[in-house]
Amino acid sequence: MNNLSSGNIKAMNTMAINAYCDQLIEITSLNQLMALTIPEQPVYILGEGSNTLFVDSKTPTLIRPNIIGVKVSETNTHFHLNVGAGENWHQLVQYTVANNMFGLENLALIPGSVGAAPVQNIGAYGVEFANFCHSVEWFDFETSEQLELPVAQCQFSYRDSIFKQALKGKGVITSVNLSLPKKWQPVLTYAGLNELNDTATAEQVMNKVIDIRNSKLPDPKQLANVGSFFKNPVVTQSVFNKLQAQYPDIPFYSQGEDQIKLAAGWLIDQAGLKGYRQGDAAVHQKQALVLVNFGGATGQDIAALAELVVETVAKKFAVTLEPEVRIVGEHGERLLIKSESQCLNQ
Ligand code: EPU
Repeated sequence: MNNLSSGNIKAMNTMAINAYCDQLIEITSLNQLMALTIPEQPVYILGEGSNTLFVDSKTPTLIRPNIIGVKVSETNTHFHLNVGAGENWHQLVQYTVANNMFGLENLALIPGSVGAAPVQNIGAYGVEFANFCHSVEWFDFETSEQLELPVAQCQFSYRDSIFKQALKGKGVITSVNLSLPKKWQPVLTYAGLNELNDTATAEQVMNKVIDIRNSKLPDPKQLANVGSFFKNPVVTQSVFNKLQAQYPDIPFYSQGEDQIKLAAGWLIDQAGLKGYRQGDAAVHQKQALVLVNFGGATGQDIAALAELVVETVAKKFAVTLEPEVRIVGEHGERLLIKSESQCLNQ
């Protein structure tokens, strides 16, 4: 039997938005998925709700994959882990480090479930999920079959994957297969980590990442938020040259030919919006890329603030910010702003 219920999903999204779900389907096994009659669209797959903004008073039908379990095997060179989509990501990171399987430590404290990790290719402090992904097991609603997608087919890029694009709404991730090389070196390229040296242990790196995150990013249990609200925008070299001429201190990260990534947090901060508050919706005081809900904000309030941020940054820098979070209305996923397609970043 599927675990079918309905109710308010405030406790199921870290932005603490009040919204009502008529059909909430909790899945704890592959057998349950196979027996499931996929409801009429729209359907939205919800993990721990740490990257979703519900903007209407109702949600679409929600499917929550709660398949748990971690299986570990090893070869001479690698540890292989099969991890159920319903496991908590940070607990997995802690488990691997405690058991001398290294690599995931830079991704500590990222909120959310393991099944959500491939969807937006979570990343932090110089490491991405894709770096350790061997394959993703995905259940296809149309054929009722589970497929194993090798990493090359997952189309991972910055905060993006096939699960957010061509496969969106067509199935659900059931587990991920990770491959952690036994030969390990710490990744200390990110500014805050380079005070550690090459002899740092994975545990030290993990603890440092936890300290940095705690110092900048609000704990959703204390102040509701969904992490970075926008992606760091990527602009062309010519757009960047003009910006740099005007703002010599602008942080940037070269992405290869003609692609420069900017820091959205810096743009929002320089646009004067850090700490800006409209009712209970606000731009976080310590990291302008994070929008927060002081308690009473609706999804529409947060979306209105996000629109103001996009417009203000576009006016000042002629750069278009795009949401990193997924915006979900009663009828499924949608864009934040209808004019979003007019991107200024070329
Ligand atoms: N900055 C400001 N003001 C701010 C925020 C940032 O000037 O209010 C500047 C910083 O001084 C720095 C630059 O902007 O020069 C970048 O800031 P930071 O290092 O804090 O990282 P980020 O680019 O804002 C990204 C990820 C985070 C990830 C960190 C560390 C995205 C959208 N965000 O943030 O991921 O933890 O790098 O790797 O790529 C998330 O996805 O939810 C998330 C938190």
